[in-house]
Amino acid sequence: MTVAVYPGSFDPVTLGHVDIIRRAAKMFDRVVVAVGINMEKKPWFTVEERKELLRSATNDIENVEVVDFEGLLVDFARQYGSCVILKGLRAVSDFEYEFQMALTNNKLAPEIETVFLTTSAENMYLSSSIVKQVGILGGDISPFVPQCVHDEIKSRIKQRSKTK
Ligand code: PNS
Repeated sequence: MTVAVYPGSFDPVTLGHVDIIRRAAKMFDRVVVAVGINMEKKPWFTVEERKELLRSATNDIENVEVVDFEGLLVDFARQYGSCVILKGLRAVSDFEYEFQMALTNNKLAPEIETVFLTTSAENMYLSSSIVKQVGILGGDISPFVPQCVHDEIKSRIKQRSKTK
């Protein structure tokens, strides 16, 4: 059984992430979407909220599960019996950081391969940060996020603006 781990912050999930998950689900027996903590980012959504949004966005895909992890990604992948870390690549700007992580993970766990899927052309520009920026400035985020998470995200943005 081929298990792929697809890690990320997913703060929040975008159509770009869902596209990668959907395509990966056709390639691997099981896709484990792993919500992690990026120490360089201050998240908007809690880990539980991010998992909930991911689950609603992917609930029609049978072989996908959503979990969270702490610590080293390779330890988590080993725990799940996965020999593939899956990453989406949007543009050259992603490459340096992703390359660095892939090489580090390879050094830590040579039996685990990092596999890159290039993003679909229509999602090339898309990122969670862009979605948050457009949302907070009152723009329409519906072209960027799954419909089922759109309202949830809008209401969180509203809550945030009230507490500020
Ligand atoms: O969506 P992001 O913010 O690029 O996701 C980053 C994440 C959570 C996948 C990354 O920070 C990560 O892999 N964290 C685990 C820590 C780790 O294993 N570090 C060593 C390899 S660089």
